Amino acid sequence: MSAIAHQPLPVVVLISGSGSNLQAIIDAIGAGLPAEIRAVFSNEPQAYGLTRAREAGIPAEIIDHRDYADRESFDRVLMARIDHYQPALIVLAGFMRILSEDFVNHYRGRMLNIHPSLLPRYQGLNTHQRVLDAGDATHGVSVHFVTPELDGGPVILQAEIPVHADDDAGQLADRIHQQEHLIYPLVIRWFAEGRLQLDDDTVRLDGKPVESLRYNSDTGDTG
Ligand code: GAR
Repeated sequence: MSAIAHQPLPVVVLISGSGSNLQAIIDAIGAGLPAEIRAVFSNEPQAYGLTRAREAGIPAEIIDHRDYADRESFDRVLMARIDHYQPALIVLAGFMRILSEDFVNHYRGRMLNIHPSLLPRYQGLNTHQRVLDAGDATHGVSVHFVTPELDGGPVILQAEIPVHADDDAGQLADRIHQQEHLIYPLVIRWFAEGRLQLDDDTVRLDGKPVESLRYNSDTGDTG
């Protein structure tokens, strides 16, 4: 039996917080995901994800946005540091900064984000509470290519969860995180295997346009 060998995809991960998605990606690499995290950057000096990176032997750098006069100068420095590692993919994993258009365009087609809602619904912050306030029956998470429109880039894969009557925002966040830890490594695998592209504004998987792919965590199927 022969498997197609892939060079590990060089990846840089950007975080601001706990880094549980970073951990899921580190663990997936340990289990065979053909990627290599060359560096982790955080704009928050206290982010626990920095500890996770260092414990995994990954260079972890703090670039504190408060040290810069404006968004553009922060983004320029961040971009230069990222490019030093020559990544083929930038993974935003709970990176809580709006990025300038120049930054986003520089990485167009090679920057992913994960957002805790069924985009295009609930762009922005506090998505779990907003879902509860609206009385929605379902909630979810989306992985998308990053384009200049905030949380508006083409969606690659989503996972949906039911909202239970007694859920609070913390419970929803926990169950969303479980889904995130499954779908983010899967999408990164597609990219690493050369199966996933952004073609203008169209996401292609194995050359075919995809629209609203859903992940089923019971079966592991997407469709
Ligand atoms: C995740 O739930 C991610 O979807 C969200 O931040 C959390 C980070 O968790 N991202 C956004 O809200 C981006 N708009 P983590 O630090 O444990 O990976």
